[in-house]
Amino acid sequence: MHSFEELSRDFALYFQTAHFPEHPASLYQPANYFLGLGGKRVRPVCCLMGNELFDTINADTWHVATAIELFHNFTLIHDDIMDKAPLRRGMETVHNKFGEPTALLAGDVMLVVAYDYLNKIKSEHLHRIIYLFNKTAKEVCEGQQIDMDFEKMEQVSLSAYLHMIELKTSVLLAASLKLGAILGGAGEGNQQHMYQFGRNLGIAFQVQDDYLDAFGDPEKFGKQVGGDILANKKTFLLIKALETANAAQREELYGLMASNPPDKVQRVLALFRQCGVDEWARELKTTYSAAAFRHLEDIAVVSKRKLPLLELAEFLVKRDY
Ligand code: IPE
Ligand code: IPE
Ligand code: MG
Ligand code: MG
Ligand code: MG
Repeated sequence: MHSFEELSRDFALYFQTAHFPEHPASLYQPANYFLGLGGKRVRPVCCLMGNELFDTINADTWHVATAIELFHNFTLIHDDIMDKAPLRRGMETVHNKFGEPTALLAGDVMLVVAYDYLNKIKSEHLHRIIYLFNKTAKEVCEGQQIDMDFEKMEQVSLSAYLHMIELKTSVLLAASLKLGAILGGAGEGNQQHMYQFGRNLGIAFQVQDDYLDAFGDPEKFGKQVGGDILANKKTFLLIKALETANAAQREELYGLMASNPPDKVQRVLALFRQCGVDEWARELKTTYSAAAFRHLEDIAVVSKRKLPLLELAEFLVKRDY
């Protein structure tokens, strides 16, 4: 068994290989630039852990973990275009540095190379793997579109927000764990608990992401703090603030969303604070992590083997970057 730290380090080393040819450099350099910025690599580590819970990690799992991380990086490059984000992992985003057309293609080619890795799998489970990978990829697209649709709406319910973040974020964490479990020979019931562990954890993970987007330390966070506020994203912060605000505060929030004053971020943050959104972040994260832990407990494997997954779960919800 390997710890979270060991698997993160091992995957980072394994992933450092060349994934693209050299030419045209105008396409592959931007792709390599982005992969070189690092990132936490949590999804491939989920896949490795999901596998190691049931067996020693096999070669197919490394291929799937690589495909997952490439897919994730593809979604980030395109997400940064959609969100007009200037910064990612503490550096300039691909579209800012190389232009939107190149960023689109760098993302596209990364997605295709992800399938090259899936194509290396020898497992009898290949069809199941592709099915889950594709189902998840389609859900991420749906979640991303809903996220953008919400930008134009005045108000969104908490349940609509939760559905959106489940699609754009949590299904990929869930699938990463389940793909590992499938390749480890886990039974149907264990696979399902693994998926539900990841799904609930993924919701808590996105809640933390939304929290950090507003209140993170710009030095550590690596993304533009306040980006969601500028884009009028319907995060739980805004939903809860609108719900608890008094009439004057609510009017101010709607006014700020309808306009773009230079002090928009500061003023929205002040309103968030006044409405006690900190407490809501804690509450949401606790609810979904608790649900995740219940599914982890229900996996029929000696609990000692689950320690790395527990460690990972703690990190995902408490992280500050
Ligand atoms: C960012 O994911 C996108 C979300 C779903 C919140 P990560 O926070 O895992 O990004 P990296 O890969 O570590 O940069
Ligand atoms: C992104 O959500 C989810 C995907 C990339 C699919 P966000 O837009 O909140 O992610 P960040 O904050 O830019 O990493
Ligand atoms: Mg974004
Ligand atoms: Mg986004
Ligand atoms: Mg975010």
